[in-house]
Amino acid sequence: MRRMHLQVFNAADWVQPHRVHRGIYTDPAIFALEQQRIFERAWIYIGHESELPEPGDHILAHMGTQEIVLVRQGDGNLAAFENRCSHRGARLVMQDKGQARQFTCAYHAWSFHWDGRLQALPLPQGYGSDAAPPSRDLVRIRQVQSYRGFVFATHSADAQPLNDFLGGLASALDNMVDRSPSGQLVQAGGKLRMLYHGNWKLFMENAVDLVHPMFVHGGAVMVARQHPQWGEHAGTTGQTTQMLLANGLKLSEWDGVDLHAHDGGHVYMGGFYRQGVIAPKRQDPVFTAYQSALEARHGGEKTQAVLAVERFNNLIWPNLSVNARFQTVRMVQPLAVDKTMVTSYCFAMTGAPPEMHTLSLRFLNTASSPGSLVASDDLEIFERCQQGLSEGLNDWIDTARGLGHDQAQSPTHWRANGTSELPIRHQLQAWLHWMGHAP
Ligand code: FES
Ligand SMILES: [Fe+2]
Repeated sequence: MRRMHLQVFNAADWVQPHRVHRGIYTDPAIFALEQQRIFERAWIYIGHESELPEPGDHILAHMGTQEIVLVRQGDGNLAAFENRCSHRGARLVMQDKGQARQFTCAYHAWSFHWDGRLQALPLPQGYGSDAAPPSRDLVRIRQVQSYRGFVFATHSADAQPLNDFLGGLASALDNMVDRSPSGQLVQAGGKLRMLYHGNWKLFMENAVDLVHPMFVHGGAVMVARQHPQWGEHAGTTGQTTQMLLANGLKLSEWDGVDLHAHDGGHVYMGGFYRQGVIAPKRQDPVFTAYQSALEARHGGEKTQAVLAVERFNNLIWPNLSVNARFQTVRMVQPLAVDKTMVTSYCFAMTGAPPEMHTLSLRFLNTASSPGSLVASDDLEIFERCQQGLSEGLNDWIDTARGLGHDQAQSPTHWRANGTSELPIRHQLQAWLHWMGHAP
């Protein structure tokens, strides 16, 4: 495993209650240390069970900068291994998704079972007698576990149980599953990828920063306001216009959106969509049919409770953003200290009217695609932050907004008004936790 060479690293020097040192966004040595201390130890979201239903089905995934292969085994379980041949290190699997009887390396044709064990190699006698087969297996990821279909992995043998890690934000995954009339979600509709030249934490922090939308997304709001009649359209134009208009809340209205922080750096914001096809509850035939299907599963009372969960971005730190209402996730993958990939996709709810999936696809395209008027604003700001943070004499970034006004709801749960920087401070506390002690 990689080992880093910061001679003296004291995490507390970098994150203070009211400010954070710019180096954690710009210093390649700290980025390398994050890979060891966060991405090799925390539970990292790597995919969904529905992506690989049959034995031999596999997908590529990432734990920080490291590429892994997640494979459905013959007994139905999941296993993952590093995507690196155990012979000379060639990348083994090249396609994002596939089905294989075994994995054969393109270089010297060593082949491996679904669980990463060496299966066969040409001319085995020539490779020497001291190399027993186990030393030639692929490197397995120590733990792979699912929470209601969402798959997480960790390199750590002694990581806390996944349920404990998810803590208060397991509720976001629960809500997404509970919204499906069959209890089943199927990843569908492809994947959207966005690359930006900025640190990975900028994305996670911005997703719960409610001061920015009316400024950063003001241009898109203005276009929608100039054409309010577009919001009446039944199709994509209507939904997109309604979504853009919703970003145009006044600051006092953003302040009225709830923010919640749970142990582990996991945070969420309340919802702010109020009208049209994106409203939490609607009176139209599609939603009525959906609600009936949900009642058939849960009964009336639980259906009301499931639909009443009104949240927007739910962050499971360090790499996952969940929107249960629209059945979407965004996965953050650090590539370098100043380069990040965001992969977004959505799920179809088995048993729901197909129009509900169309709603999710439109949501994702408007909110999180490379062509999105909204996402492109955010990426531009991340790149400006990265550029600004890379230069200058001021080493510190202010994170003090709302400090001292957090309201404890329990020993592991706090809330604040929408324009507080509580969720950002909370993520940085999680950073401190992981970075503060060596593996
Ligand atoms: S590098 Fe894979 S078989 Fe040689
Ligand atoms: Fe934004």
